[in-house]
This record gives sequence, structure tokens and C-alpha cells, in this order.
Amino acid sequence: MPMNDNALTFRIRNLDFYYGPSIALSQINMDILPQHVTALIGPSGCGKSTFVRCLNRMNDTISGTRVEGEILLEGEDIYAPEVDLVGLRQRVGMVFQKPNPFPQTIFDNVAFGPRVLGMTKDKTELKEIVTKSLKRAAVWEDVKDQLHDDALGLSLGQQQRLCIARVLAVQAEVILMDEPCSALDPIATGKIEELIHELKELYTIVIVTHNMQQAARVSDFTGLFWLGELIEFSETKKLFTNPKHELTEAYITGRMG
Ligand SMILES: Nc1ncnc2c1ncn2[C@@H]1O[C@H](COP(=O)(O)OP(=O)(O)O)[C@@H](O)[C@H]1O
Ligand SMILES: [Mg+2]
Repeated sequence: MPMNDNALTFRIRNLDFYYGPSIALSQINMDILPQHVTALIGPSGCGKSTFVRCLNRMNDTISGTRVEGEILLEGEDIYAPEVDLVGLRQRVGMVFQKPNPFPQTIFDNVAFGPRVLGMTKDKTELKEIVTKSLKRAAVWEDVKDQLHDDALGLSLGQQQRLCIARVLAVQAEVILMDEPCSALDPIATGKIEELIHELKELYTIVIVTHNMQQAARVSDFTGLFWLGELIEFSETKKLFTNPKHELTEAYITGRMG
């Protein structure tokens, strides 16, 4: 059933992306549905990170880059000149491969965004946001007695969930995750996967992963990137059991990539 633009979180049409003269993404078309998990897979260097960074204009900070085509977020062109980048990155948050908490307390890490954005009227409200975000990110039980300790003292898995709490604290609608588990052990990875499952009730999630089993476990839709092109994009079950494209079949069976 075709959805209108506003019912989609992202509508991406004919997206090309250039680093200087070299093209990194070519003619990408994708619809990203709200409250679903979309996984992006493919070999290293095929454009997955470049693509997710287009979704909140993080690539803008790299000089000499150029975007062509269209990315609509709930019907609005995110590359339109009047778009407020701070507001965009608040709505579309990002979690990176390596957890990157600030060298500050756990509380201050989560409070940072709401403070900068002036989201709360007093301390009580700020505390409420911090608590709620830590709970939603499934890290509250781990940290509730040490909110004023240095965040860098946490395990990597806890740090990653703290980074997710930071995104939730500014009331993001979309969470982009670029290989969020690749620095984590299997138990910490399992916790993040469980969390992704819970978060999709409220948020739209786009996750880059080099782990195909992870894509199969956590996502509703999967896209396979290959040399800057989106080779196949479909329901996860379909992509893994009945791929349309030969390259997809070769990649998921381990014959290529
Ligand atoms: N900052 C950059 N400047 C120039 N080229 C880049 C930059 N980042 C990535 N690339 C190039 O763009 C292509 C896609 O990279 P990337 O999006 O990081 O792929 P992936 O995340 O799938 O590993 C690669 O050829 C990479 O070398
Ligand atoms: Mg990458």
C-alpha cells in the first residue's frame, strides 16, 4: 500500500552523494517507515555510513561534499536552505560505533542536550528528563546510584546505552545507529538489540550493521548497499529468505563481500 509522504519518516529519492569529485552514493531511493527498524548492510566502504549521515546532514561538516536528489523528513525537504540544523539533529539523533560520552558525569551527559536547548524550566524537570531517558535506554538500573560519577567509568555497553539516553533526552524522533555494537561483547550487544526492539514502539530506527544475523534479528526492513548503490531493499524476512538480486544472494550466503 503506497503511503503519502507525511506518513513516512523519510522519503529518499534519487540521492547522489559526492566527496569532492568522487561519487559515494548513486541514485538511492528508499522509504523509511515510522516505528520500524531499518537495517543497512553491505561490505565495508560501500556507503552505509555516508548514507545515514545524509539523514541528519552530518556530512555537511565535511568540506567539498555535495548532495543531489531529495530527502524528505515527514514531507519536508531536509536540505532546504531554511532548515535549522540544530533542530534537525535534535529530531534525528545519532549513535556511533564507539560510544562517545563526554568526560563528565552520567547526569550531565544526559542533561547536556536539554540544557543547551533550554528544554526545561527548572532542576526538577531536568531531573525528570534525565531519569526518564536513562530508564528508556535501559541503563537506569545500572547507574541510578552513581549519577554523579564520571561516565567514562562505565562499561562500553553501559556507555552505549548512555549515548542512546542522550539522544532520547532531546526528544528525538529518529535514532540513527552506525554499527552501535561493533565495539561490544555479545552480552552487551544482546542488551542493545533488546533495547532496539523496545524503542521501536516509540521511535524510528535506522541501524547500520556488518552483522547479518543482527540485521535479521532486529530489523523489519533491510537494504543492501554495494559500491554506493542500494542493490536491494525489502522486508527483512524476504531479503534473507528470498532475495531478488543475485548480489544479495551472494552476500547473504557469504560468497561475496
Ligand atoms: N570523509 C571522507 N572523505 C572522502 N571520502 C570518504 C569519506 N568518508 C568516506 N569516504 C569514502 O566514501 C565511500 C563510502 O564510505 P562509507 O560511507 O564510510 O562506507 P561504509 O560505512 O559502508 O563502510 C568509501 O569509498 C570511503 O572511502
Ligand atoms: Mg561505516
